[in-house]
Amino acid sequence: MSATHQRNRDESEPDNGPINDNDVRQVIEAAGWAPSVHNTQPWWFGPRGSRISLHADVERRLEVADPDGREMVISCGAALFTVRIAVRKLGYEPVVHLLPDPDRPGLIADVSLGRPEPAIEDVERLFAQVRRRRTHRGAFRSETLPASLLPKLRVEATLEGATLRVAVDTHTRTALAALTEAAEHVQRLNPRHVSEAARWAPVPGSSRRDGIHEGAYRREPERTEPYFPGRDFARGHGWGTERQASAGDPDENMTGLVAIVTTAGDDRADWLRAGQALQRILLRACAEEDVSAAFHTQALEVPELREFIRTRFCAGEHPQMLLRLGVADSGLTSVRRPPEDVTRQAP
Ligand SMILES: Cc1cc2nc3c(=O)[nH]c(=O)nc-3n(C[C@H](O)[C@H](O)[C@H](O)COP(=O)(O)O)c2cc1C
Repeated sequence: MSATHQRNRDESEPDNGPINDNDVRQVIEAAGWAPSVHNTQPWWFGPRGSRISLHADVERRLEVADPDGREMVISCGAALFTVRIAVRKLGYEPVVHLLPDPDRPGLIADVSLGRPEPAIEDVERLFAQVRRRRTHRGAFRSETLPASLLPKLRVEATLEGATLRVAVDTHTRTALAALTEAAEHVQRLNPRHVSEAARWAPVPGSSRRDGIHEGAYRREPERTEPYFPGRDFARGHGWGTERQASAGDPDENMTGLVAIVTTAGDDRADWLRAGQALQRILLRACAEEDVSAAFHTQALEVPELREFIRTRFCAGEHPQMLLRLGVADSGLTSVRRPPEDVTRQAP
């Protein structure tokens, strides 16, 4: 059985009784370290008896960039995969009931502890990456990725019902970079978009535990070739982190592997598949080869560009995430809200 196997709940199945408070806290703490768009952490957890419910926090949705909540749900999917691996780490099979109530679209999943299943080494390794994994921004180091990694990542995506498509030829990579740049310009032309993004990029020194702080991006990001622009978190203020001299130099313009996570459909269940696949890919890449991801989802937030990417580069499947994979110098940081802030009484 795979390390992160999940089963959908069979209602006749006996559960393991109430989950103790420490275990609940450990699961919620871990889930909070999932990646989320603009670090919005658009989720809350409702522990009740033998299960933990994961809810989308719709107040944290990006109204302008993400009107349908697609990126919000992808983020929740990443948190859900993390809940599953955390439950496996506790020594149980996660029993997941996805989107259990059509009348409560914000309810993403109910997860309970299934059969006892001691955490095998692979679970421990993946779980150990949950806190370590960091979004990279900028160029990668020159190491080429081992040929064995990509097939493994493709399998991880498939196991979650998604596909990882790698842009191998130069023209596809260059076209995706150009579309990202076009989207970045289009978004900067929209004052509503600019002010929404600014709300999630706090000023240096802020005590907020969400959003993209200056520790999460470079003051002078290295330019990749082809050029995949990052988001403008510093807004011309010169904020950002200096590269540490000890960090090792990124290679000139090293873009890394350019890939798109796609799904066959494009509804909430598909977005959840994409999010779970994303976190599974990221943890595997980090565990196997210390490989990190940089994300460039600007073009997927512009409907015309997303449609263009779907038809031209995804064989008609729906693009959910655009990322680059490579070996990064570390040193970027991120923040999270503590479990108390994301735990509520489930109704
Ligand atoms: C749906 C989604 C879209 C994202 N888009 C971008 C992006 O366009 N640019 C970027 O720099 N990071 C992007 N990210 C990464 C988040 O900003 C990052 O996960 C968050 O700031 C938390 O930081 P961490 O991943 O280092 O823990 C995205 C993440 C998700 C889940």
